[in-house]
Amino acid sequence: MSESGQTAGAAGGTFNAMASTNSLARTVVVANENQVARRLAGYHWREVEAELDREGVAVLQDLLTTADCRALASLYHDDGEGIFRSRVVMSRHGFGKGEYKYFDYPLPDLISQLRGALYARLAPTANRWNEALGLEVRYPSSHAEYLERCHAGGQTRATPLLLRYGPGDYNCLHQDLYGEHVFPLQAVILLSQPGRDFEGGELVLTEQRPRMQSRPLVVALGQGDAAIFAVRHRPVQGARGFYRVNMRHGVSRIRLGNRSTAGLIFHDSA
Ligand SMILES: [Fe+2]
Repeated sequence: MSESGQTAGAAGGTFNAMASTNSLARTVVVANENQVARRLAGYHWREVEAELDREGVAVLQDLLTTADCRALASLYHDDGEGIFRSRVVMSRHGFGKGEYKYFDYPLPDLISQLRGALYARLAPTANRWNEALGLEVRYPSSHAEYLERCHAGGQTRATPLLLRYGPGDYNCLHQDLYGEHVFPLQAVILLSQPGRDFEGGELVLTEQRPRMQSRPLVVALGQGDAAIFAVRHRPVQGARGFYRVNMRHGVSRIRLGNRSTAGLIFHDSA
């Protein structure tokens, strides 16, 4: 997507995110629900929705402060606190090179608040997309209610994650599907600063169109920016109504340094 396509940063407000040195509090990145909601209210959601419809991806600039980013990224090494349910070394599965960890429930406050508040903002687009694609599934306005549906269907494990890439690492093109229940949009937040912490390592999306060659998109992100994009497919307006395109995402090779991201997937895993 183009620079001009990016949405304006939110006005004002910080999460006062912090990782306490108190060992009991280390697993919690503090966030106030109202602060998260206020931050999200600062974006122009009509523009975000229009960008999602046009490109299948939109950027929320400066969603997190540098302090938020550092606090979240520092959780990666909190193995002893039991905040993660599993660690995945990508090369062992042919997923690429690098690693990630899935958070366990209860999620850190900031992750939990962002996941719930972003879901509520994105559910109308998800419903609009399903209607355009002729799919019957509709999404409730509350994330708690949607998670009940996932859990009743056996998708009970938390899917938010932290990813760590070092020099030479990359993530192959993929889709984050974890069972029958799929919320059609997801978010990734860049926690490192490009140019200072790492070089290379760009978020790449491909759009596979029917009877056409695939279209690549490179998403420019700054530290604290969130990219919102289609998980699996999205509707595109054609001359004779909507047609479906298939989306995949990955990360290009990190040339230098280390890159950390947080991923927010709204369905849970089987
Ligand atoms: Fe992914």
